[in-house]
Amino acid sequence: MCGIFSYFGPKTNIEELITGGLMNLEYRGYDSWGIAYKTAQGIEIEKEIGKISDRVLSNNSQDTGLETNIAIGHSRWATHGGVTQANAHPHFSADKNIVLVHNGIIENFFELKEELKKGGVEFVSETDTEVFAHLISLYLHEGFEEAVKKALAKVHGRFAIVVICKDENKLIAARVGSPLIVGIDKEQNEYFIASDIPAFLKHTKDVMYLDDGQMVTIDQNGAHFYDMESGKRIEKRIVTIDWDLESAEKGDFAHFMIKEITEQKNTLHRAINQDAGLILELAECIKNAYGTFLIGCGTAGKVCMVAEYLFAHVAKRHINVAFGSEFNHYKHFIKDKSLMIAVSQSGETADTLEAIEVAKGKGANIASILNVETSTMARISDFVLPVKAGPEKAVASTKVTTSQIAILTLLAYALADRLEEGEQLLIAAAGQINDMLNPRYERHIKALADKIYHSESMYIIGKDMNYPIALEAAIKLQEVSYIHAEGFAGGELKHGPIALISEGTPVIAIVANDEYKQEILSNAMEIKARGGYIIGVSPENSEIFDYWIKVPDAGNASPIVNIIPIQILAYYLSLLRENNPDMPRNLAKSVTVK
Ligand code: G6P
Repeated sequence: MCGIFSYFGPKTNIEELITGGLMNLEYRGYDSWGIAYKTAQGIEIEKEIGKISDRVLSNNSQDTGLETNIAIGHSRWATHGGVTQANAHPHFSADKNIVLVHNGIIENFFELKEELKKGGVEFVSETDTEVFAHLISLYLHEGFEEAVKKALAKVHGRFAIVVICKDENKLIAARVGSPLIVGIDKEQNEYFIASDIPAFLKHTKDVMYLDDGQMVTIDQNGAHFYDMESGKRIEKRIVTIDWDLESAEKGDFAHFMIKEITEQKNTLHRAINQDAGLILELAECIKNAYGTFLIGCGTAGKVCMVAEYLFAHVAKRHINVAFGSEFNHYKHFIKDKSLMIAVSQSGETADTLEAIEVAKGKGANIASILNVETSTMARISDFVLPVKAGPEKAVASTKVTTSQIAILTLLAYALADRLEEGEQLLIAAAGQINDMLNPRYERHIKALADKIYHSESMYIIGKDMNYPIALEAAIKLQEVSYIHAEGFAGGELKHGPIALISEGTPVIAIVANDEYKQEILSNAMEIKARGGYIIGVSPENSEIFDYWIKVPDAGNASPIVNIIPIQILAYYLSLLRENNPDMPRNLAKSVTVK
């Protein structure tokens, strides 16, 4: 994870520029930050614990004394070494000739560190990153590019780095598995290198992608890309991004999370208005595949689980579902005619990417259902179905979740040769959601949050395709409210978890109007008999419910409508517990490490 933002060009307000860029990358990590920039005297570094968005800018713009300014910045999500100022990036080499920022993990850092220590290098941080800085400086007598190349050849892992050297007017960046994108403004002769596009969207929409195993050098003569092993030059195309800045900003909303929840009024329509040709094409791939494997992590993993039920019910088709991190045992069953469908918001999740690499290695066809169409996953997939939900900034996924489920619903119907019926189902659900998302509805849910926000634990039960929604509901509550929350299949409760219920324990029962309604109501009854406080998420009220949150009766779209009130509940619980719903503790939106 971690966010990288760097600059090469004539702008002088370095502090403001890098701070602004990093603030747009905070979703990648926000436990500490740092900036380094070149001056006529050398390299200045500033780093702090905490969020860059809490930084108070000084009024004076730095006078670096240089015509072209070169700066690198970093927002950290700690992996190696705790959250301390010393561990924050950028990191200097011992001789202060080299400074760099890094995202990812250097797997053989321990051996490299020992080797460098034997050579007399003193380490000032606990990070793996520092190894890189010392290594580059060790080879610097061979030239800056050559030194970076040599250091890269020594390290193993998945990472991205951006480096500056005291005596060179250059930025050098390299990528092995973690994203880096170059933004370019030709008129200004300026360049940005960042982990993601929103970091420089304010300045330019023209980008060039750095691929795995590639380096880029940026100097007065422009950006030069080359293969880091062979040194062979690579020509890059400039791509103009069609993102608008507004959709990446909060506007009148207090937080991105509530903005994105509210946006579900429109995002579902965008998912439904998907190119039907693409849906039919992917359905055809599933029909012809020798086994389909649906892979995702976190919320995207729960979306895959919902799809498993949908594919079974609607298309009578079995698909294999696994979390990216738990995919490995499936590798024995992947053949060259197999199909892997990766589901991901960011398209950068390390565990999902690794599962794709394994499947690719066996010759399988790779499709992905992605929100970030410019991501690594998009670039390594044979087929991409875009989610088109627009930038999702809050760490807890909301609008992308429902759009992903909508797309997989369309796919299940297409597989059953009933795509139109699937579209009608979702259009109706989107209309119902539009009516549901109003201030009165939000107030009703907030009133529930007022009642339960002191709770130590909460449980959620669901059945069939709403069982994964119970699991997803638990993730939402954990992520932003920090209340201990767990989701269960209603029927599993009496096999253990019911022992956790005591007087007043809040339990959300997701009761869809389906063939399992009575069963899940009976499960709710069993909990109520043990003192549980039953919150029914259901189209109809029941005497079993202590609090009823009405949801539309949406048939096979019930997973989509049922998760929305729980997203709202999680948001208000987070506020009442004085948490930051957009940036929950210990989490990052894009998990690019294993
Ligand atoms: C993080 C995010 C989740 C997301 C998961 C997978 O944990 O907070 O919202 O579901 O990563 O990310 P992806 O980008 O692959 O959907």
